[in-house]
Amino acid sequence: MSTALKIKNISKTYGNRTVLNNVSFETYTGEVFGLLGPNGAGKTTLIKLITGLINIEEGEIEIFEKSLNKEYEEAMSYLGAIVENPEMYKYLTGRQNIMQYVRMRKNVTPERIEEVIKLVGLTNRINDKVSKYSLGMRQRLGVALALLHNPRLLILDEPTNGLDPVGIKNLRDILTNIAHKEDVCVMVSSHLMSEMELMCDRVAIINEGNVIRLDSIDNLLSVSQGHQVTFAYSTSDLEKTQHLIAENSEVQTEPDNQKLLVHVNSDNNLEIIASITAMLVKNGISVYTVSKVENQNLEEAFISITNKGGGQIV
Ligand SMILES: Nc1ncnc2c1ncn2[C@@H]1O[C@H](COP(=O)(O)OP(=O)(O)OP(=O)(O)O)[C@@H](O)[C@H]1O
Ligand SMILES: [Mg+2]
Repeated sequence: MSTALKIKNISKTYGNRTVLNNVSFETYTGEVFGLLGPNGAGKTTLIKLITGLINIEEGEIEIFEKSLNKEYEEAMSYLGAIVENPEMYKYLTGRQNIMQYVRMRKNVTPERIEEVIKLVGLTNRINDKVSKYSLGMRQRLGVALALLHNPRLLILDEPTNGLDPVGIKNLRDILTNIAHKEDVCVMVSSHLMSEMELMCDRVAIINEGNVIRLDSIDNLLSVSQGHQVTFAYSTSDLEKTQHLIAENSEVQTEPDNQKLLVHVNSDNNLEIIASITAMLVKNGISVYTVSKVENQNLEEAFISITNKGGGQIV
């Protein structure tokens, strides 16, 4: 694992509007990194700065330790990116598009071309005209083009836009494969939290130009819960169950439909639940089911973070 991208104190203003405010973070090879934020948060602006589409005015960006300002060409040699719509010739086939692209790049071997076509799952359709491709196929051809020169940092702005759930899953598998098996750093942006949760190892949550959270998906999900674990009890007498459990100061109870929710704030939550269950049985209550309630997903965490967030840097 090595540092792929280093963003240092990047700020960007348009007129008197601050679009990015002192953004700093690093991303690493072998990870899928998500840039997550609502519309207008500054995701595309940051990606345009990293990919050299707009000039850096304040701060510094390094790609594999090469400064974009000072060593632009070297920095760019590590980068593959799709920002907005990748350029493709619709009247050419997928393969002809690839060959067109290869002519502009150095060092793309015939083996790499075949490898990339296979990687994005276009083997059967590569000789069809792009005009006959579905959106998902065009998207995958775009990923193939961006991967041809073996970039170690791949950046895709909203890659799942417009894809159906199967297309999203396919792309997700392709991108996690590239990151985890080819040791590439894959950076994707999205405003869809549920999808980032499945695709990314770490995310930066960006809101109004500020990075308000930077953490692994695992941590984000558990932090959003405050390490609280919830179990749902179904018993022969819920009222008595609640009354008995309320005597245990380590948990909070909350009726929910035909169940009683028990919130535990402790690392040994399983032991606590086991002893509560034994206590209930001892008091003559039939315990029908005890089930763990799944954590809230990142979408809920994201909404609660951005609602509370207001530019706070964590
Ligand atoms: N060329 C420009 N001139 C002026 N303002 C701009 C320009 N480009 C972007 N902005 C503003 O910068 C802010 C961030 O825009 P940006 O496109 O980076 O957001 P985003 O996070 O990519 O949003 P989305 O999810 O909608 O793609 C917005 O307020 C936008 O209006
Ligand atoms: Mg955008």
